[in-house]
Amino acid sequence: MPTVLVTGGMGFIGSHTVIALNENGFDVVIADNLSNSKTEVLNRLHTICGKDFKFYKADCCDREEL
Ligand SMILES: NC(=O)c1ccc[n+]([C@@H]2O[C@H](COP(=O)([O-])OP(=O)(O)OC[C@H]3O[C@@H](n4cnc5c(N)ncnc54)[C@H](O)[C@@H]3O)[C@@H](O)[C@H]2O)c1
Repeated sequence: MPTVLVTGGMGFIGSHTVIALNENGFDVVIADNLSNSKTEVLNRLHTICGKDFKFYKADCCDREEL
């Protein structure tokens, strides 16, 4: 299965997308600048999915970071 980069993956829609992708067998990497979310979401994703996801605190508007 390919790996999917979910930008804004710590937010409302993004975190649900992470769960759905994981349930369908995709590997998921999350990039989020945490401007409207908290790292606590990673713990919740771990509880729900039973695994840790690679997370980068990165601003998608910053070409170098991305
Ligand atoms: N319980 C609920 O029903 C509930 C809860 C929250 C939100 N909502 C709805 O969901 C919608 C919003 O959800 P959403 O997922 O679109 O927004 P969101 O703010 O929840 O998620 C966006 C994510 O993108 C990140 N982000 C923003 N700019 C970024 C950037 N430049 N680079 C990297 N990351 C960046 C934020 O930190 C955040 O984690 C609204 O319609 C809201 O009303 C519903």
